[in-house]
Amino acid sequence: MRHQYHPLGFEGSRIAQGFWRLQEWEMTSSETLGFIEACLDLGVTTFDHADIYGDYQCEALFGEALKLKPALRDKMEIVTKCGILLPSDNRPDIQVHRYDYRSEHILASVDRSLENLQCDYIDTLLLHRPSPLMDADDVAQALDLLFTLGKVKHFGVSNFTTRQFDLLQSRLDAPLIINQVELSPLALQHFEDGTLDHVQQHAVTPMAWSPFAGGEMFSGTNEKAQRVQDVLQVLAQEKNCEIDQIVVAWLLHHPAGICPVMGSGKIARLATAVDAMSTPLSDDDWFRVWIASQGQPVP
Ligand SMILES: NC(=O)c1ccc[n+]([C@@H]2O[C@H](COP(=O)([O-])OP(=O)(O)OC[C@H]3O[C@@H](n4cnc5c(N)ncnc54)[C@H](OP(=O)(O)O)[C@@H]3O)[C@@H](O)[C@H]2O)c1
Repeated sequence: MRHQYHPLGFEGSRIAQGFWRLQEWEMTSSETLGFIEACLDLGVTTFDHADIYGDYQCEALFGEALKLKPALRDKMEIVTKCGILLPSDNRPDIQVHRYDYRSEHILASVDRSLENLQCDYIDTLLLHRPSPLMDADDVAQALDLLFTLGKVKHFGVSNFTTRQFDLLQSRLDAPLIINQVELSPLALQHFEDGTLDHVQQHAVTPMAWSPFAGGEMFSGTNEKAQRVQDVLQVLAQEKNCEIDQIVVAWLLHHPAGICPVMGSGKIARLATAVDAMSTPLSDDDWFRVWIASQGQPVP
């Protein structure tokens, strides 16, 4: 009988901050600390990482900042990921860009993340991308051990189909509490492929990566991006707010309880995203964006 996990589910902030681009922000440790504190002041307490971000450097940059004020650790929830192997000068042991979900790799990856983040537990560990070679029983062994050792409190997945999610879940006693997928007005696929139905059915939190499509929402020049930008402009004018706010409000409006993971290193942009929590959209507004993205009326 496996150890019972704490059946708490995801307890994080409504909006999360991602650290994929932390290295690009070129912050000193004290500037990163200031950014982390500013996020916490805004009520954004969930921080999204992955072992591979910034060529395996971002977790360590975050950890250096956290070391300056370790008491902050318990005021935040750290999400990080494992499972992608990326050839890099920082990891000469990796030859092929691929996935690895053998239990020994998961265990070693978490130990590296803990060391880099300079903390002794991870709130939620996500399997970063599904692998055709994933053996769910082997994964379950690693997750059980990580939980028993107190290294990870909760588990989830990222970019998993509903079938892949169910397969892994069938081998675990604990509920998987997150599926982090790409969701934005320019990325509608997971609104329609059953992912958002599945998370609601199983009380799983959907986290939205690249909520601004990596910046395409503002700079995209293709027809779809232009159509969406035009509607966002109109809505922003009607509500006297920024386009960003409309996009985040659009994600928050969905009944699945989407948690957008913001990607900018500019705190003013995160503040705008937080303002979206008090920018209600009507269903009419929501469908105007949906229809603009689809490029055709609903059937
Ligand atoms: N699970 C996965 O597979 C996966 C994949 C990708 C990302 N993620 C997570 O999702 C997080 C967010 O992804 P993302 O960084 O792609 O998010 P995003 O918010 O879609 O894109 C961020 C980019 O948009 C730009 N931007 C934001 N607001 C803007 C504005 N008002 N005007 C112009 N440009 C603006 C930012 O530039 P500035 O920095 O100049 O503001 C930045 O370059 C990542 O940090 C990571 O944690 C997960």
